[in-house]
Amino acid sequence: MPGMTEGLRAELADATNAVEDCLARLLPEVSTPEARLFDAMRYATLNGGKRLRPFLVLTTARMFNVSEGAALRVASAVEMVHSYSLVHDDLPAMDNDDMRRGRPSCHKQFDEATAILAGDALLTRSFEVLANVSTHPDPAVRIDLVNALAQASGPNGMVGGQMIDLLTERENSAREGLDVAAITRMHQMKTGRLIGFSCTAGAILGKAPAQLRHALSAYAHDLGLAFQIVDDLLDVEGDPGEMGKSAGKDAAAGKVTFVSLLGTDRAREQARILSAQAVEHLKPFDGEADRLRDVAAYVLDRRS
Ligand code: IPE
Ligand code: IPE
Ligand code: MG
Ligand code: MG
Ligand code: MG
Repeated sequence: MPGMTEGLRAELADATNAVEDCLARLLPEVSTPEARLFDAMRYATLNGGKRLRPFLVLTTARMFNVSEGAALRVASAVEMVHSYSLVHDDLPAMDNDDMRRGRPSCHKQFDEATAILAGDALLTRSFEVLANVSTHPDPAVRIDLVNALAQASGPNGMVGGQMIDLLTERENSAREGLDVAAITRMHQMKTGRLIGFSCTAGAILGKAPAQLRHALSAYAHDLGLAFQIVDDLLDVEGDPGEMGKSAGKDAAAGKVTFVSLLGTDRAREQARILSAQAVEHLKPFDGEADRLRDVAAYVLDRRS
């Protein structure tokens, strides 16, 4: 894959296999009357995403000697929230996208009501997984995880960012006056916060010192922003076949993005600066954070 070191490619492939096994176990096929809901939840999650967030959970958990089983449950929980956000993001009332991860989006494969319910169910299931004693024997750690994921996903995180994103569309008067600072805040909320959870969950599970947790949080802050700027660049410059989703949607909806504000060259430069800054925050770590350094480079060069 473009932009990946061989080590990152191999470890991401292993993480992908492990998290998909875990997701398949946590979201079983059933033969009860609500089977269609489980089918849609499985369709939305077991479908070839890059699994970057689970990879970040597993990689940082390893840095604090967390058991693989616990880390996989948290990795699966965050991927459930992320996949739910994509199912709802693609709905006609939001971005109205027909393709996701190289296949028809969930509401196209099933129907809108089923896609809404599958998203709802993935969100709630993720918290059920975190709250279960198998995730960690210490209830204080489980509450810390639940609290951190709720903060990252809810009105002050992903959902709040999605609200702002929709308000930046052409026909909305609220888009007037949106500048780089406002779009930075939106990116941080809609994308950065969940990446932030993914980078700090291992520190929570491993009861790491606050200083190391903060270093990972600072890394994730810059990485998440760079990740969403590149997503906006790919919407302009990317190949829908490689990306597995349609391109040109942001401009068609008249959204305000880093690219619409700064142009492609300056947006790319901004992503590069953020990626370099992200790596700077890893100074408290030695070689054990090398994969995180690889991720910062990969995020810039990714084509999907
Ligand atoms: C897409 O996320 C939506 C954003 C938050 C930018 P990803 O690019 O991580 O999507 P998948 O999981 O690989 O499909
Ligand atoms: C979505 O951002 C961020 C989410 C929280 C789902 P986009 O709307 O740009 O994501 P894509 O381009 O559809 O994947
Ligand atoms: Mg969107
Ligand atoms: Mg979208
Ligand atoms: Mg996009």
